[in-house]
Amino acid sequence: MNIALLPKIELHLHLDCGLSYEVVSAIDPSINKEAYDNDFIAPAKCYNLADFLTRAVKGFALMQTKEQLTLVVHDLFKQLKASNVIYAEIRFAPLQHLEQGLSPYEVVAITEAATAAAVKATGVEARLILCTLRHFSAAQSMQTVQLVQQFANTYVAGFDIAADEAGFPIDNHIAAFQYAKANNIPCTAHAGEAKGTESVWETLQYFGPTRIGHGVRSIEDPALVKHLHDNQIHLEICPSCNVQTNMYDTYAQHPIDQLYKAGVSLNINTDAPTIVNTTLNKEYQQLQQVFGWGIKEFYQCNLYAVKAAFIPSALQQKLL
Ligand code: HPA
Ligand code: ZN
Repeated sequence: MNIALLPKIELHLHLDCGLSYEVVSAIDPSINKEAYDNDFIAPAKCYNLADFLTRAVKGFALMQTKEQLTLVVHDLFKQLKASNVIYAEIRFAPLQHLEQGLSPYEVVAITEAATAAAVKATGVEARLILCTLRHFSAAQSMQTVQLVQQFANTYVAGFDIAADEAGFPIDNHIAAFQYAKANNIPCTAHAGEAKGTESVWETLQYFGPTRIGHGVRSIEDPALVKHLHDNQIHLEICPSCNVQTNMYDTYAQHPIDQLYKAGVSLNINTDAPTIVNTTLNKEYQQLQQVFGWGIKEFYQCNLYAVKAAFIPSALQQKLL
């Protein structure tokens, strides 16, 4: 089986964590390869998620103008094409791109237009997810979800919460997720990564997402695994990222295979290809080597992903 040729779907991919050396050096020629390797790529083992996330700052610092955002979007599509990704949901936090005077609306409009152009240029289908962040205020979360609403019927398709799950509670963000629910805005949420099963339960209860980013620690509670299965809550799983953030010592200890065998809807993602130093091709290869996954599992994950994607059923049908 030639993994590189398999069509792939990625639902969990941070725009600011996926800058290639090519685009970084185009934006800032003073950054040489050694500096890129040191500052943008995390060590194979980080202390924890917060440590891992210190590298994301490097990415969004270079994404503060129309030209920079546009270059980064096109760069990412080039990488998606190289892993034969046919559909991707790309996420970013618009409020992190205001340092050089862009308004939140402009940031989303620029990124959306670049996405539309990149879809046309590469043939890779895509949607955007706008993220609030754990350390943001209630007002910032509300502003972000309202941006999703303002950009309805464009490439902007959903709402997420990212950043340091262990460091900040959910309180500031409940109203934004309620707003999303009231306005039929599709939602996902990072949970069950830096915290355990109680975090997944509270995320489901207070945010009501149809998908969970990571969610892998759900494996620790059989009742939660059953709940995910029975309610078709989809897990966006990013195996190498979880090993790197020190959730698991080795890839072999990752629960993706157990969750798959329990019938939970899930798919395979990179999360942060630059920080993790991975590609979707590499993730598939690892799953093949470590868990003996093959066409059957990869195809099933793609089916789950298409069903869970934030797209109209006509596009789902096209991808199947
Ligand atoms: N978790 C939370 N926030 C993130 C991550 C993650 O794995 N990657 C990039 N931002
Ligand atoms: Zn993530």
